[in-house]
Amino acid sequence: MKKTLLSGMRPTGSLHLGHLVGALNNWVKQAAEFQCFYMIADWHALMSEYENPKALEKNSVEILAEWISCGVDPEKSTIFVQSHVKEHLELNMVLSCITPLGLLERNPTYKEQLRELKGRNLMTYGFLGYPVLQASDILVYRATVVPVGVDQAAHLEFTRVVARKFNALYGKILPEPQTLLTETPKLLGLDNRKMSKSFNNFIALADSPQVIKKKVMSMITDPKKIHLDDPGHPDTCNVCSYYKVFAPDAARELRRLCPASKTGCIKCKKELAEILAETLKPIRDKREKLLADKGALLNILKKGDEKAKHAAFLTMKEVRKKVGVFHDL
Ligand code: TRP
Repeated sequence: MKKTLLSGMRPTGSLHLGHLVGALNNWVKQAAEFQCFYMIADWHALMSEYENPKALEKNSVEILAEWISCGVDPEKSTIFVQSHVKEHLELNMVLSCITPLGLLERNPTYKEQLRELKGRNLMTYGFLGYPVLQASDILVYRATVVPVGVDQAAHLEFTRVVARKFNALYGKILPEPQTLLTETPKLLGLDNRKMSKSFNNFIALADSPQVIKKKVMSMITDPKKIHLDDPGHPDTCNVCSYYKVFAPDAARELRRLCPASKTGCIKCKKELAEILAETLKPIRDKREKLLADKGALLNILKKGDEKAKHAAFLTMKEVRKKVGVFHDL
């Protein structure tokens, strides 16, 4: 029996290179080893976008098209919408009852998001409960493997604590999930900070070659290389780190030429823009094609939703029994 894996992303628009190399490339591979559930976390998106949620549905369809364009196969993995599976909220209710407030208030990701997501009022009951819903997402499928980035590690630790508490109180039915910290290449944003939608420092999967070029030309290179004949330090240059991920051979060449003052930053960036446009072309084309037939995309979701509902229903049935709430008549 394959282990169950669950991961998800919020449909807040514009998947970018960070999602591709940090998550999606692994999601594709993981489908062979695990029984995978990939979730469009629209309730989680609502928590931060509640003041302006009109794009949630459109973004959900788009993120589906983007996942598939990057190689996630709905025949091999279950792709579904969080809000379509009501059991997430039922388990969220139960877990809310047993979650100590202090655990939520101390959550480092929560504090970081309050700092990072500017211009929004996130001092809400819902946002404080973000990790409780995330724990419900995982535990309602009794997933034992959760691939996430380091920024989410605290949420996984929270999930284990809550599962342990549930099991101690009501009986052992929720397995504690493992964090799968897959090896992913480090890819910073255009401004050397973490690549993030909220920093607007990303290259989107859907960006045209023109936009890619403009963005790449704005990248910061080695500050010690001012003139063409200054020797550069490619191993501390963000542009070179992109080469390492997307064109390893060219990166090797660059690490030889740049310190020897034999190439300049402008040329280097122009070529990187071409490499990235080339890499993204098949993804962009497939995305366009998929989005042209929304009906087909919705059918994919419908099938995924059904599979997810079935699994979640079975867990909630047991949860209700263990907790002792009145069963369905
Ligand atoms: N919080 C995750 C993020 O922002 C998205 C998410 C929601 C998630 N529920 C999840 C990830 C469950 C893994 C498992 O990226």
